[in-house]
Amino acid sequence: MPQQIKAFVFDAYGTLYDVQSVEQVVEGAYPGYGSVITAIWRIKQLEYTWLTSLMGRYEDFWNLTKRALEYTLRSLHLDANPQRVENLAAAYFSLQPYDDARDCLERLATQKRAILSNGSPAMLYSLVKNSSFERFFDRILSVDSRRVFKPAKDAYALIEQELGVTPEQVVFVSSNGFDICGAKNYGFTVVRVARSINRVGTAFPLKIDERALFDLLRAQAETLDQSADVTVRSLAEIPDLFGGPGRGA
Ligand code: LAC
Repeated sequence: MPQQIKAFVFDAYGTLYDVQSVEQVVEGAYPGYGSVITAIWRIKQLEYTWLTSLMGRYEDFWNLTKRALEYTLRSLHLDANPQRVENLAAAYFSLQPYDDARDCLERLATQKRAILSNGSPAMLYSLVKNSSFERFFDRILSVDSRRVFKPAKDAYALIEQELGVTPEQVVFVSSNGFDICGAKNYGFTVVRVARSINRVGTAFPLKIDERALFDLLRAQAETLDQSADVTVRSLAEIPDLFGGPGRGA
C-alpha cells in the first residue's frame, strides 16, 4: 500500500450498488415499462441534484428520488399517484450490491473504508444494512449534512473533516462520470470503475435501446479534463492496484 494512502472512499449508487436492480420491481408495477422508467428515473434523479444545487434550493436525495420518479411516470402518461410513487421509490432502499463489491471491501480491511454519497442518511443506512455490508465501513458519509450534492467541493470536503485525512491520502472510487470529475477536481486519487455494458473496443449497436442510451450518457468517461488516475473493469482489481493483501488474506 503506498505510504500516503490512508483511506478508500466509495461512491454508492452505480459503484457499490446497482441502480439497474430496481428494474424488476418497476416492471412489476408498470408492465412493459421497466427498462425505460429505470433509465429516465436515474437520469432525472441526478439532474435534479444539479438543478437544486445550482439554484441553492437543497432537498434531500429521497425527496429528489421521488420527484424524479414522478417526472418519469408523468412524462410517460402513467399513474403517478403519490402513494404509488412512494412505494416504488422505496426500491432505492434495497438495491443489489455489485458482485465485485464484497471481495474488494474485504481485502481492504486493514484500510479506512467509507462511503461518500448523495444518498440521504436513511437511504444509505438501509442500503448498507440490507446488503449486510455494515462491517466493511468505518464511516457512511451523506452529503446531507452539507446540504449540497456532489460534485460541489463542499460535499467532498466531508471526507477530510470526518475521516481526518488530506486529499493526497484518499483513493476515491466511482463509476459516475460527474463524480469522477468532482473527486479529481478536489484532489483525490481517483479510480474509475467502467461499468459499461458494452465490451471494450466494440462499437455500440446502431439501434440504441434505453439501457444502451443510459450507458452512453452515464457509464462513459467525461471529456472535461478531470480524468480518473486509473480505470478498472471491476472493483476486485483495486486491492492489487494499491498493493493490498491477497484474496482471502
Ligand atoms: C452517489 C451517487 C452519485 O452515491 O451515485 O452519490
